[in-house]
Amino acid sequence: MEIALDQQSERFLYHQVVDLICDMQQKGTLRPGDRIPSLRQLAERLDISVPTVKQGYLELERLGLVEARPKSGYFLCASQARMNTPRKPKQTTYAVPVGRQEMIEQVHANVHQRSALPLAICNPVSALPPHKALARNMRRVISLAGEQALGYGPLNGFLPLRRQLAFRYLDMGVMMDPEQLVITNGAQEALTIALMLLAKPGDVIAVESPCYFGILELIEGLGMLVYEIPVCPDDGLTADDVQRALDSQPVDAQPIKACIFSTSITNPLGAKLQEENKKAIVELLESRDIGLIEDDVYGDLYFGESRGLPAQLYSQKGLVITCSSFSKTAAPSHRIGWLLSPRFAPQAARLKRALSCTSSLLNQWTMSEYMASGEYERYVRQLREVLKLNMQRMKAKVEAAFPKETRVSSPHGGAVLWLELSRKVNGAQLFQQALEQGISVMPGTLFSASDKYRHCIRLSYGVSWTLDVEKGIERLSLLARS
Ligand SMILES: Cc1ncc(COP(=O)(O)O)c(C=O)c1O
Repeated sequence: MEIALDQQSERFLYHQVVDLICDMQQKGTLRPGDRIPSLRQLAERLDISVPTVKQGYLELERLGLVEARPKSGYFLCASQARMNTPRKPKQTTYAVPVGRQEMIEQVHANVHQRSALPLAICNPVSALPPHKALARNMRRVISLAGEQALGYGPLNGFLPLRRQLAFRYLDMGVMMDPEQLVITNGAQEALTIALMLLAKPGDVIAVESPCYFGILELIEGLGMLVYEIPVCPDDGLTADDVQRALDSQPVDAQPIKACIFSTSITNPLGAKLQEENKKAIVELLESRDIGLIEDDVYGDLYFGESRGLPAQLYSQKGLVITCSSFSKTAAPSHRIGWLLSPRFAPQAARLKRALSCTSSLLNQWTMSEYMASGEYERYVRQLREVLKLNMQRMKAKVEAAFPKETRVSSPHGGAVLWLELSRKVNGAQLFQQALEQGISVMPGTLFSASDKYRHCIRLSYGVSWTLDVEKGIERLSLLARS
């Protein structure tokens, strides 16, 4: 068999060694229990150093795929504990009020403790902090623009940044005018504006389930009702699911007014929406004049071959409003997000002005320089690699340590794992006990307006990977067992 590594690739050579052994296993060239090539053999064959192969083999050991036997070499593990993916819950038929604000407040008050192992908050850039590059770009902006960079900017956003975003959308096939973009304070403000544009208090909003709790809190804050559509842990939402949800509402029920769906990578499941489903969902919703707010904050953090395309691409009637931000790929503290809508941009700009006037000009300017230099694209490519590796490490650790009836997601991107524990486990209690042991996790209850995920937790692998993380997961598994 012809084997070679790509010396020009941005993927580290030792990662490529990991890929190679995994590939040989998947193709059946290597079977469980087989001895894998020795360090020296593989190094010679691939024309790389022995320490590089060793680093790859150590990573394979960490992933639970390979074991080292003293004086015998490395072997493919005979049994690799693989857990099932979480179950898809049943569709409910009624919309309900949310009522999660108080609980979210309590959780937030605790999870930001600096001393705790931060597995609760999803902050992907923590895995590879870009602060030095951002600081350099920010200093450059201040030295070039002086006090202008510290003043108020244009109300709908800094034009060079809107242009950079328009170029990126063009790469994804979406032709747009920068005037159709409004810069916001993070994706959360974009979602707020979109929801205020499409619905009013008392209206029913369909969301995927489990759903990012910030969206549930927003729906609650605006006095709307939520209708949860269960998501398949792998493929995300399907057009059939949405059709069934629309058709299964009782005749006396209030109709769905708008939907908020993650159209690339979902949080917390890390599911990836299939393009044909995405297109069919847009067509279905537009045929019934239902607006779709697409939340695309994790779109760039995919682990597969290519990025999911924005649902905006498939819109014929302009009822899709795209919301996203740089919070997951640059700096959440910058609070730079955007809303894209060829149809609603002027109204969105008015609402933005009324809500918060404008977003930080210095941060917008910094981001536009960072993008224009090409650094942003390079960084996001590296971040994806690091997150994918962290995901594999965390998943391997969970599979080795947690009780075998645990179900764990197989994310296609993003920075979180979703664990479905035994129904006897109360995720809220586990959250408290874990905090007492210096570990913060997100209790599953926050991800639905009902109690259906009370035995679930969400863990973030958007962290710098250390022994402490591995030990933390082990401690957590002991709590789950007890
Ligand atoms: C799915 C999802 N949407 C929106 C947001 C809000 O993003 P931002 O921090 O840019 O407001 C988050 C943040 O965690 C998220 O996970």
